[in-house]
Amino acid sequence: MRKKVIAANWKMYKTSKETKEFCQKLSQLLAVPEAVESIIFAPFTALAALKEGLAGTNVAIGAQNFYPQDEGAYTGEISLNMLKEFGVSYVLIGHSERRGIFGESDELIKEKLRKALAGGFKPILCIGEAWEIREKGEALAYCLKQLESAFNDLSAAEVQKVIVAYEPIWAIGSGKSATAEDAEEMLKGIRQYLNNNFGAEIANEMPLLYGGSVKPENIAQFMQKENIDGALIGGASLKAESFSQMIRFREMQK
Ligand code: PGA
Repeated sequence: MRKKVIAANWKMYKTSKETKEFCQKLSQLLAVPEAVESIIFAPFTALAALKEGLAGTNVAIGAQNFYPQDEGAYTGEISLNMLKEFGVSYVLIGHSERRGIFGESDELIKEKLRKALAGGFKPILCIGEAWEIREKGEALAYCLKQLESAFNDLSAAEVQKVIVAYEPIWAIGSGKSATAEDAEEMLKGIRQYLNNNFGAEIANEMPLLYGGSVKPENIAQFMQKENIDGALIGGASLKAESFSQMIRFREMQK
């Protein structure tokens, strides 16, 4: 059975102090079920507090960004080696805010994916279309193009280590999530693409996530779908209570 993945993307929220408070609350609320992989993608400056605060739990630490070089004259950037010190095991790659606001190209995303895999990190690769593309009925074709570009010349063994998150841009931070049916249809198409290009084993084993206005009130609808194995959550992950509720999504099904 595929692992369930519940990931928090804190974006540019939380100081170290706020992170400490979050972790204290979370540890009172939480026992992560065995079959759920939970991850918090925190800002760089909160990683030390997160590492300390999550010690002894099975919540993994993720970084929202990195630059794909070991070291060098890259003012303002952070390398994977630097992240290792903070217990980071996951990295987010290709988030639409990085693509859109910071102009990350398909080329850079590809490079970051390779670097993360070579460094033994677990990447969550984000893809997703804008509303105009969905309106034209081209959402799946667009997302598959993003995938093709990122996976281009990766071996099957490398692809196997990636988690894909489908995050329609219009659903992010908008309060207007995709319907569970639309998300399922997209992830089904993505699984089909994986099957055609990398074989049944990889297609069946890769956890596929949905992201975009997921919250405790709607998470169960998504998690019930055959091809949705988890969620990448922004706004609703900032409170320990709601993040822990979503980790225990099975209890939210009633
Ligand atoms: P949201 O963000 O849950 O606030 O819509 C999701 C994301 O950007 O990963």
